[in-house]
Amino acid sequence: MPQHASRIALVTGGASGIGRRIAEKLALEDRATVCIVDRDATTAGDAAASIRRSGGKAAYFVVDLASATATQAMLVELTDQYGSPDIVVNSAGMAATVPALEYPLAHWQLTMAVNVTAPMLIIQHALNGMKARGWGRVINIASISGVRAGTGRLGYGTSKAALIALTRQFAIESAEWGVTVNAVAPGPVDTPLIRSMHGGGTADLYGAMVPMGRYGAIDEIAHAAQFLASQGASYITGHTLAVDGGFLASGLLVRDLFDKPDAQAPGPVVAAHAH
Ligand SMILES: NC(=O)c1ccc[n+]([C@@H]2O[C@H](COP(=O)([O-])OP(=O)(O)OC[C@H]3O[C@@H](n4cnc5c(N)ncnc54)[C@H](O)[C@@H]3O)[C@@H](O)[C@H]2O)c1
Repeated sequence: MPQHASRIALVTGGASGIGRRIAEKLALEDRATVCIVDRDATTAGDAAASIRRSGGKAAYFVVDLASATATQAMLVELTDQYGSPDIVVNSAGMAATVPALEYPLAHWQLTMAVNVTAPMLIIQHALNGMKARGWGRVINIASISGVRAGTGRLGYGTSKAALIALTRQFAIESAEWGVTVNAVAPGPVDTPLIRSMHGGGTADLYGAMVPMGRYGAIDEIAHAAQFLASQGASYITGHTLAVDGGFLASGLLVRDLFDKPDAQAPGPVVAAHAH
């Protein structure tokens, strides 16, 4: 029996990139009924149709998550049509690379609205049903930028740090209801969003700074979200799972240190108990 056969999954940003792959996995592998929530009607329609062609159940709702009013109206409509979601994945996100001193207020507010306020409203709404049913899974797609600062990431990084804090807040207040709330912090993944951000040598820098030496694949991020949505992940809550090729674990990273013949000889030994 597929593990989410009778469950409703709401996936924001499910029209593209990471969110789309998560929607596909939940619908086609775990047999959830997936509601894709996105502002792009064409790609959202394509994603839902493609899932249905492959034998899954999927619908889509078009909304600009920057608007709290429109987000709340979408939640009412979705719940009326499909029921209250058992699984929520907040993957829609926006970003810009701007010097901190020049960051425009309007873009800051927009980033917070999409990356923080919309997930807050969606989780708040869904938790009522999850509490009543005694089961629920929430997965927020954060970022390594919410844990480490990056040049130009004032709005994006701060919003993702807030999303990680929001994850913990909801997690502890819903922990007794059979609900888990977790985040995934992806490293760099080749998607339309990241193509718009990673100019100016950023891709080469990530190649050097990620211990695995490569970008992640969409599937690798989606797999982590699918795991956190699974029955087996029932004792994990309030956690942020880095899926980043080792980026957050890394400090000094010298790739060729042991390739140099003289580097392999033992260096001077400093006695631990020198007198
Ligand atoms: N790609 C990466 O390297 C990377 C790294 C870390 C975190 N992330 C996070 O992963 C998530 C998914 O990103 P992606 O790379 O798959 O991007 P993507 O651009 O492929 O997909 C984002 C989706 O969100 C939708 N969206 C954006 N703003 C919206 C709004 N206001 N209302 C409704 N829908 C909106 C877009 O239409 C799009 O379908 C984002 O939250 C992003 O911050 C991505």
